[in-house]
Amino acid sequence: MLFATAELRPLVSAGGLGEAAAGLAAALAEQGIDVITAIPGYSPYPLDDEEHVWLDVPDWAAPASARIGRHPDAGVLAVIDVPGIVRPDPYVDEQGEGWVDNDARFAAFSAAVAALGRSVQADLVHLNDWHTALTPAFLGGEVPTVLTIHNLAHQGWASAAWVHRLPSHREAYAWGDAINGLAGAIRLVDRVVAVSPNYAREITTDAAGLGLQGLLAERGGDLRGILNGIDTRAWDPATDEHAPHFDRSDLSGKQLARRALLDQAGWDDTDEPLIVMVTRLVDQKGVDLAFEAARFLPGMRARLLVLGSGEPGLGNWGHWLGQTQPDRVWFYNGYDAPLSHLLFAGGDLLLMPSRFEPCGLAQMQAMAYGTIPLVTPVGGLVDTVVDGDLHRDGTGFVAATLDESGVVDVVHRGLRAWRHAGRRKAMQRRGMEPDWSWKQPAGEFIDLYREITG
Ligand code: GLC
Repeated sequence: MLFATAELRPLVSAGGLGEAAAGLAAALAEQGIDVITAIPGYSPYPLDDEEHVWLDVPDWAAPASARIGRHPDAGVLAVIDVPGIVRPDPYVDEQGEGWVDNDARFAAFSAAVAALGRSVQADLVHLNDWHTALTPAFLGGEVPTVLTIHNLAHQGWASAAWVHRLPSHREAYAWGDAINGLAGAIRLVDRVVAVSPNYAREITTDAAGLGLQGLLAERGGDLRGILNGIDTRAWDPATDEHAPHFDRSDLSGKQLARRALLDQAGWDDTDEPLIVMVTRLVDQKGVDLAFEAARFLPGMRARLLVLGSGEPGLGNWGHWLGQTQPDRVWFYNGYDAPLSHLLFAGGDLLLMPSRFEPCGLAQMQAMAYGTIPLVTPVGGLVDTVVDGDLHRDGTGFVAATLDESGVVDVVHRGLRAWRHAGRRKAMQRRGMEPDWSWKQPAGEFIDLYREITG
């Protein structure tokens, strides 16, 4: 099976796609699937026992080749080289602007993936997001295909000039006077998978379908929701390499992690609850809603710790909050893996006020680490967090409305529960109980693969 993705942790990861792709590919391999993961060669990732193959692609995508070999953390990889693919960041330049040739770069990657699928005689090609959306046009229906939608907000628009470069199925991609990569893939693949059941429903509606709701609804039962897992090789509080260890039966290590986190922020030991956020600084994540609500922190007697990178405006706002409320807000602009683990391990509550959230991984990582999630009522957040005021088996809190007052209210409700030690411990334990790993989702993918390959 060939699994194609533009991101794969730990080699390259701009967000949830890299995390989810790594977790699924590893779990599939563990369950006996022969997986080759194809990624763009943004830089010369070292492989063991590598073999070099030339790929047969149209002139505009040539020369294309793949280095196939084993990577110690990521399994069997095909690192694909096409014109323009080598860059310091997969998507954006130093100013945070998308590379102007992203359409050409990922179109060439998509063509190379199809050529590779043919050359290794893959029995199935599993695509992820818009970066791989043109692949079905190059496969021309020869090989069964699955598309996972991690985020419908990025559709892979390109100018109409691209239509003529597609060898087949041009009409599937045509969209007004442009082409829309995801639209074509949604029409052409054998199965479409959204990263949570609730997101699979949402994207068939006018409110969340971003123009593709009609096409998605037409796929009927071929559109499925399979909830992401978390990669428990990296995210397990009992074995975490970046934080003191603990588990459901003994949370004392979580106290040590909390102290380490307070040290990191330069704060004295305090019993005021620590609300943490580990997030991309983008509109989707509702970071502005959290920053607006930060003015209530003194009254709430709570503290906020944020680790994030992304839009410069949100970064400046975070710095400003940290400077004006130094004993309430700690802000770290950037991505730092060890620090992110310490935030999940040592935090008391996780705030995730997303405007939309296909699945969301942070809320599951938080629950696995006994950190109570406070979320908005969207996408996979609804599938994973059970509201502790509405249900006896609560694991967190779900805002009633998607706005600032909803966020403030959900934080209040979370703080109240957290301050009640009995209630807090029961919620923590319930959140830590489920198997959040990729084991079950990988099984669901394997069943889906069997449906289409026989
Ligand atoms: C994207 C989505 C996020 C999802 C992740 C992995 O980053 O925004 O909700 O969890 O992909 O599928």
